[in-house]
Amino acid sequence: MSQAVLILIKPDGLKKSLTGNILTRLSETKLEIVAAKMVRVSKELAEEHYKHLKDKPFFGEIIKYLQGELHDRKKVMALVYWGKDAIKKCRELAGATNPEEAESTSIRGSYGRITTTGVYENVIHVSSNEPEAEREIKLWFNPDEIIVDLYATKDLVLKEITNKVWR
Ligand code: PPS
Repeated sequence: MSQAVLILIKPDGLKKSLTGNILTRLSETKLEIVAAKMVRVSKELAEEHYKHLKDKPFFGEIIKYLQGELHDRKKVMALVYWGKDAIKKCRELAGATNPEEAESTSIRGSYGRITTTGVYENVIHVSSNEPEAEREIKLWFNPDEIIVDLYATKDLVLKEITNKVWR
């Protein structure tokens, strides 16, 4: 069954120039990339993304991490992969969340580390299941940024909106 999954290449992945390696590894899945962009992550976006972890002791650190405050790279690359068993395939290539437990040839096993404060710097985020993938994709992307129709949409007529355009 075709499904969508959100992938984030986190600030440590960008700082370590791993984008090409990670995309090459993910291409082994033969899934289709249906959305991609660079994002400057606000505190609000990071907190909403990790909202299920707000009571964890490492919450403050992972918010700073996703915002790039630990790596002097204030951006992430957000992608949506789409195709058969997309979540399972991407999570297998990513490896376990804890980089020390991840298989050594997986993306996180190859490039991740645990900081001295105990935070997993595991290079990529991969949605954990279908409901989470839908929640995360809707959080990170607008419908018109995705080249397939993944979820139901509605028309919203906006008046007096100012948009930046090229001059
Ligand atoms: S849980 O506990 O199962 O709900 O957590 P999970 O969905 O696996 O997501 C945990 C995210 O927090 C990041 N993180 C850590 N998790 C556990 N322990 C420590 N010390 C820790 N440090 C950071 C972890 O990488 C998960 O984020 P993502 O973006 O999914 O990798």
